[in-house]
Amino acid sequence: MPSPDAAARRVALLTGGARGIGAAVARRLAADGHAVAVDYATSGAEAEALVEEIRGAGGTAECLQADVTDPAAVTGLVERVTALWAAPSVLVNNAGMNLTASARRLDPADWDRVIGVNLSGAFYCTHAVLPAMYEAGHSRIVFVGSPAAGRSVLPGTGAYAAAKAGVGALVEVLAKETARRGITVNSVIPGFVETGMTRGEGERAMEVLRGQWPEIPPDAVADAVSYLVSDRAAHVSGEQLGVWLGGPSGLHR
Ligand SMILES: NC(=O)c1ccc[n+]([C@@H]2O[C@H](COP(=O)([O-])OP(=O)(O)OC[C@H]3O[C@@H](n4cnc5c(N)ncnc54)[C@H](OP(=O)(O)O)[C@@H]3O)[C@@H](O)[C@H]2O)c1
Repeated sequence: MPSPDAAARRVALLTGGARGIGAAVARRLAADGHAVAVDYATSGAEAEALVEEIRGAGGTAECLQADVTDPAAVTGLVERVTALWAAPSVLVNNAGMNLTASARRLDPADWDRVIGVNLSGAFYCTHAVLPAMYEAGHSRIVFVGSPAAGRSVLPGTGAYAAAKAGVGALVEVLAKETARRGITVNSVIPGFVETGMTRGEGERAMEVLRGQWPEIPPDAVADAVSYLVSDRAAHVSGEQLGVWLGGPSGLHR
């Protein structure tokens, strides 16, 4: 049986929550009073430490392993969260990755992996939580998108840009499908945030990014997510909320 205390809080499922932007979102949602299910793929130790930290601060959190590219694992993840507390009324599709290579060089398996994590994985999670959200109403879905989806494309990011553009389209369709169900669907679009993902691009790329983009702290992205899942945003759906201070210098949309 789900715990009645935790079920009284809003239950938030956050993918890729162990580190980077996800960890900031986990802390913020817990501080807002959510019971937070921190999904991780490989960062088990970081996820455990984060959950301990949240509990130490008086919050409610649990970490659960699931690779979002595996639909059966995602179904199991939602079942485990539901058994623990209650069906998630908040989903944050944060899990993401990038593999940089020109279209000429990009291995099709790497294309599939990037699309799988950023787009298909987000769809699998959404698909798995929607039945209970349709029943409950009053639910929130937030995707973490990217300026790479069209406002600021870079060579070598074809798979990532295509995946995040897909996310943007999915958000708009989902918002229309759920408009009369009490469910809102939005995305946050972070600018340059220093995390494992951006550090993975190498020091030279980091220098270029730092030179062009105002650096955004992970907490600023978490604040935007916090707003979009709050009661204050009950009538905001289908939106892309940029957290990027105007974007890269010299870029005009
Ligand atoms: N950093 C930026 O400048 C920036 C800008 C725009 C958008 N974003 C987006 O922000 C989100 C978070 O990225 P980040 O910058 O915080 O990067 P990060 O520190 O590298 O974190 C990526 C997260 O995604 C998780 N993940 C990767 N593959 C997964 C899978 N198959 N299943 C479940 N989780 C998986 C990782 O989990 P494990 O560690 O457990 O494997 C990790 O928690 C991504 O969607 C990214 O595209 C980032």
